[in-house]
Amino acid sequence: MTDPRLILAIETSCDDTCAALVEGPRVLSNVISSQASFHEEFGGVVPEVASRHHLELINAVVASALERGGAGLVDLDALAVTQGPGLIGALLVGLSTAKALASANRTPLIPVDHLQGHVAANFLEPDPLEPSFLCLIASGGHTLLAGVTGTAGYEPLGQTLDDAAGEAFDKGARLLGLGYPGGPAIQRAAESGDPDAFEFPVAMTREPGLEMSFSGLKTALVYRVRELGPEATAAAAPDLAASYQRAIVDQLVAKLGRALDAGEWRAVALGGGVAANAELRRRTGELCEQRGLALKLVPIELCTDNAAMIASAARYADPIPYPDYLEFDAFASASAATAG
Ligand code: KG4
Ligand code: ZN
Repeated sequence: MTDPRLILAIETSCDDTCAALVEGPRVLSNVISSQASFHEEFGGVVPEVASRHHLELINAVVASALERGGAGLVDLDALAVTQGPGLIGALLVGLSTAKALASANRTPLIPVDHLQGHVAANFLEPDPLEPSFLCLIASGGHTLLAGVTGTAGYEPLGQTLDDAAGEAFDKGARLLGLGYPGGPAIQRAAESGDPDAFEFPVAMTREPGLEMSFSGLKTALVYRVRELGPEATAAAAPDLAASYQRAIVDQLVAKLGRALDAGEWRAVALGGGVAANAELRRRTGELCEQRGLALKLVPIELCTDNAAMIASAARYADPIPYPDYLEFDAFASASAATAG
């Protein structure tokens, strides 16, 4: 396997249009154009709207990543692109753009799994983390515990049986009228709230395994909001947000603790948009301190979707030569990643 040094990566799996230039573990540029304001009025991502905006934004985002990184297409050792999982129409915009740009100079292309990208964010500077480590990946579409023993893949140890943790944040924020994306909105509202004010169920903590579940929590909030009515809900929004956030974080931290009991891990890392959550970062810090383990927290802009993490994963995958990549297709659901 070669180690291409200068990689331009593209990521369009959901509602952020992203391109980044990465050299080894160094991020030279990391451009993220969020479409959140377009989706806010719908309280979530509308797939067709996302694809259309990706089409409008992608060329400018790529140009900006190259310019800020100080390189041209001819300088690249490889391009990388998210192949899945994600919204199929959104993924296809990134994939076809990457194919076209790579073909122009017969540059190799590296297709990347989005979840491996979240794991690989930990391999970037500052302070790259070397395997092995236990990684909690919690995003809008996925929530899983990954055993990372190599740079090329991971072993899924347990995952959510229903909603993702980010989805729970987004649905909760919608019920509380706090806006989209829900994670940052709940976190902000929770800052002035009391996490003991309301009791929400912390699912799956009596079950022995590493599976998680967040749909019951959302249902509990639906009932709470219904009982309270619109005025009392608005007045209690900070307390509701703080209590709801605590229930999500409690479950994630309990399962992390259980995974640590079950394996021999020296370090813990977080990945995915929910890893940006201040309460989750704080509580995971406490857990690691209690157990004398190293904790790796990547900067916020490398937690939520970005293309630098895709380039990082691509460093450890085989570049596909022109024209073999032209037949690649995007995939919507998670593929089974292998430990590497
Ligand atoms: O990884 P990501 O950017 O996209 C997906 O792959 O899904 O994750 C997006 C998710 C959204 O559900 C968003 O509400 C959540 O991450 N998120 C947060 C925070 N920032 C983003 N959740 C909790 N607290 C945050 N500060
Ligand atoms: Zn993601």
